[in-house]
Amino acid sequence: MKSYSLRPIGVYRKGKVIIDKKWALGLKGLEGFSHVMVFFWLDKAHKPDLFIHPRGDLKISKIGFLATRTPHRPNPLGFTVVKLLKREGGTLWVEGFDGWDGTPIVDVKPYTKREVLEKCKLPSWVKKLDRLEKDPLRKFATKAR
Ligand SMILES: C[S@@+](CC[C@H](N)C(=O)[O-])C[C@H]1O[C@@H](n2cnc3c(N)ncnc32)[C@H](O)[C@@H]1O
Repeated sequence: MKSYSLRPIGVYRKGKVIIDKKWALGLKGLEGFSHVMVFFWLDKAHKPDLFIHPRGDLKISKIGFLATRTPHRPNPLGFTVVKLLKREGGTLWVEGFDGWDGTPIVDVKPYTKREVLEKCKLPSWVKKLDRLEKDPLRKFATKAR
């Protein structure tokens, strides 16, 4: 299969998505939206295992990694809807981002509700793990909505 290369357009640092000077003007108007979809590169992820225990919980049976939100995947692309607190030039102050400091940003798009589903089915392990979540980043990401 053909490969595609991807270049970061910015970086996440301490609550801020900082877009490179080259693209910063392209953010004009984004401040009109309360939420932004951030796409990022989980650069510290390792190679995926085909089957994993969701969030490493040994009490839950292994399933395919593509049925989970694990960062460890062939193309470690992360996607999170964040709250946009403020924009100043190329800097977006955001809440609810679940990447580490220094995580490369590959795209941002305004959140327009097109992705909202009235009804969706979730396996019981998702609900259980959401209730027990201890990772502050993941807890924070859910709360910011
Ligand atoms: C489960 S992933 C989900 C990311 C995104 N919400 C998604 O669904 O695509 C988020 C977790 O990945 C880990 N993580 C954060 N930044 C990372 C990075 N730059 N490289 C590898 N892992 C990272 C943290 O443990 C964080 O809680």
